[in-house]
Amino acid sequence: MKKDLISIKDLSKNEIGELFELAKELKQEPSAYYEKLKGRSLGLIFQKPSNRTRVSFEVGMHQFGGYTVYLGPDDIKLGVRETTKDIALTLSRYLDVIVARTFSHQDIVELAENATIPVINGLSDLLHPCQALADIFTIKEKSDKLEGVKLAFIGDGNNVVHSLLYCGAKMGLNISLATPRGYEPDTSILEESKTIAEKTGANIDIVKDKHRAVEDADVIYTDVWVSMGQEAERKKRLKAFKDFQINSELLSKAKKDCIVMHCLPAHRGEEITGEVIDGPNSIVFDQAENRLHIQKAILLKLLDKGV
Ligand code: CP
Ligand code: NVA
Repeated sequence: MKKDLISIKDLSKNEIGELFELAKELKQEPSAYYEKLKGRSLGLIFQKPSNRTRVSFEVGMHQFGGYTVYLGPDDIKLGVRETTKDIALTLSRYLDVIVARTFSHQDIVELAENATIPVINGLSDLLHPCQALADIFTIKEKSDKLEGVKLAFIGDGNNVVHSLLYCGAKMGLNISLATPRGYEPDTSILEESKTIAEKTGANIDIVKDKHRAVEDADVIYTDVWVSMGQEAERKKRLKAFKDFQINSELLSKAKKDCIVMHCLPAHRGEEITGEVIDGPNSIVFDQAENRLHIQKAILLKLLDKGV
C-alpha cells in the first residue's frame, strides 16, 4: 500500500530514526544515491510561495535523476477548476509522488485519500512535517543526542510548532513554549503531544514569559509572527507578539552555547533580530540545508528506494 507523509503523528520513533540515518548518509555521500529515482516524476502543488521547500525538493529530485513539475497557484487551481479528488486521480496517472503546500490542511488530506501515489505535506495551515524532521535532524547533528535536550519555542503556536511538538515528543525532547495569550498551539495537538511525551519521558510545558522558556534551553526556536495567509492580521499580531522577540538581551540570559533556530523566511527585526540570525549561536542556514537531505530521505523511503 502507498504511504503518505501528512503528519509526523503517523510516524513511529523508529521510522523517524531511519529517516535520520538515511538523511545522514545522503548528506555524507550524495553520489552513492545518484539516479536512484531515474525516470520518476514529482509534482509540486503549491498554493503559497516557497523558497526552501520548492527548491530543495526540485534539486533533490534532480540529484536522483528524476523530474519535477511545478504547479503553482494559477496552474491547476486546486478545488476551483476541478475537484481535489479529480486532480488527485489524474495526477496519479502521470506522477510517482506529490508534494502539496496548501492553505487548508484538509486539502492535503483529500489529495492523499484520493491519490494512488504518495502525497507529502509541504506545509499546510496546520502542519509542516518536512520542516520539523529537518529541524530535529539538525539538533541531533549538533547535539549528538535528542533525549533530554530542551527546546524553547518563542512565538506563534502555528503549523511549525505543531510539527515540532509531534516530532520532539516522539524523540524525547523537552519543549517549553512561550506564546502570547490567544496564540497557543492547537489544543488537541498539544494534548496528543503530551500523551506521546509521557511515553518517551519528554516534557512539554507552556509559559507566558520568554525568559522562563529559555532557562537552561539548549535550543531556542522561533517562526514568523505573520504567517502566509495571515497578512490582514499583521497589525494586531505585531502588537500581540511584541514581547516575544529573540534578541541579544534574551540570549544574554540563555545558555552561552545554546543554538538558535528559525524555519525561515525570517522577518528580521520582528520575531528575531538580524544580529541574532547572523550571530554565533545561529544555525539557521545549516537547518535550511538539511531540508534537502531529509526530504531526499523521505522521497526514497516513500518510493521504497531507501535501502
Ligand atoms: N521553511 C520553509 O518551508 O521555507 P519556504 O516557505 O521558503 O519553503
Ligand atoms: N508559519 C510560517 C512558516 C513558513 C515556513 C507560515 O506558515 O507562513
